[in-house]
Amino acid sequence: MDANRRIERQLTEALVPGATPPLLSLAMHHAVFPGGARVRPRLCLAAAAACGMDDPVLVDATAAAIEMLHCASLVHDDMPCFDDAATRRGRLTVHRAFSEPLALLAGDALIVLAFQTIARAAAHCAHPERLGAVMRIVGDSVGTPLGIVAGQAWECEKRVDVAAYHRAKTAALFAGATMAGAAAAGGPVEAWNAVGLRLGEAYQVADDIGDAISDAEQLGKPVGQDAAHDRPSAVRELGLKGAVKRLEELADLAVEAIPPCPGRAELGALMRQEARRLVPKTLPAHAY
Ligand code: IPE
Ligand code: IPE
Ligand code: MG
Ligand code: MG
Repeated sequence: MDANRRIERQLTEALVPGATPPLLSLAMHHAVFPGGARVRPRLCLAAAAACGMDDPVLVDATAAAIEMLHCASLVHDDMPCFDDAATRRGRLTVHRAFSEPLALLAGDALIVLAFQTIARAAAHCAHPERLGAVMRIVGDSVGTPLGIVAGQAWECEKRVDVAAYHRAKTAALFAGATMAGAAAAGGPVEAWNAVGLRLGEAYQVADDIGDAISDAEQLGKPVGQDAAHDRPSAVRELGLKGAVKRLEELADLAVEAIPPCPGRAELGALMRQEARRLVPKTLPAHAY
């Protein structure tokens, strides 16, 4: 089964409503389906495959958990107390489609469901002894001091280092994806840290570029948000041309960081393809 089908199947199984209050269940579903790029779970599966993939049950649960945490972070990020965004993935955001209380709860429930999904895999996976490491890595990538929660909290501070802000709000979960994929497959965890970090940093630089020069229709979410909210961004820091250069450098560093493994060449090619998708095809004339 290909990576995309594995991810959608696992997410669908995890989000079966059961006795969940119906509106909360619908709000959670709205947050996860239809998905966006699903880049983090695909990266998790790719790292696990490179490490041998000897426990697909645990790997699939881990990849789905990573995507649920990402979706939860978007639900909370769009709320009026953060970016106050009306659209996401070309549709209304969860708080606009449902309500603020349901958006808050849907995000909370998805965060908890991510860890429930990994824990539930213990009963039927091949290597339950790996669960502790997977839980720790995934938790570190979204919590404090260096995960998404910390990243969002930097927006409340007067002074922010843009690289630390990007690492925490975005790159930490990418590193979580590669390291947890390796851990779930019994591979060398630390060796996969730099791959995810560099790719995640590149991804946020690309997001900043999109926010500065793309349009809402193409991105499916509002643009011009970094300037409107006075957020530190790679474009503000480096200029448009400098940000594109940084994105290309980071993508190269990510590929170079792939540890020796049987699938190294294929994974490097896949990452370069993803990186090319991120680089804007044309820059406005004022960038030069
Ligand atoms: C958006 O992430 C938020 C960032 C960290 C840049 P994605 O661009 O991966 O969002 P989806 O999942 O594809 O919608
Ligand atoms: C990344 O920040 C989102 C999270 C870490 C939740 P942004 O606020 O820049 O992302 P978008 O542009 O809303 O997707
Ligand atoms: Mg934000
Ligand atoms: Mg936002």
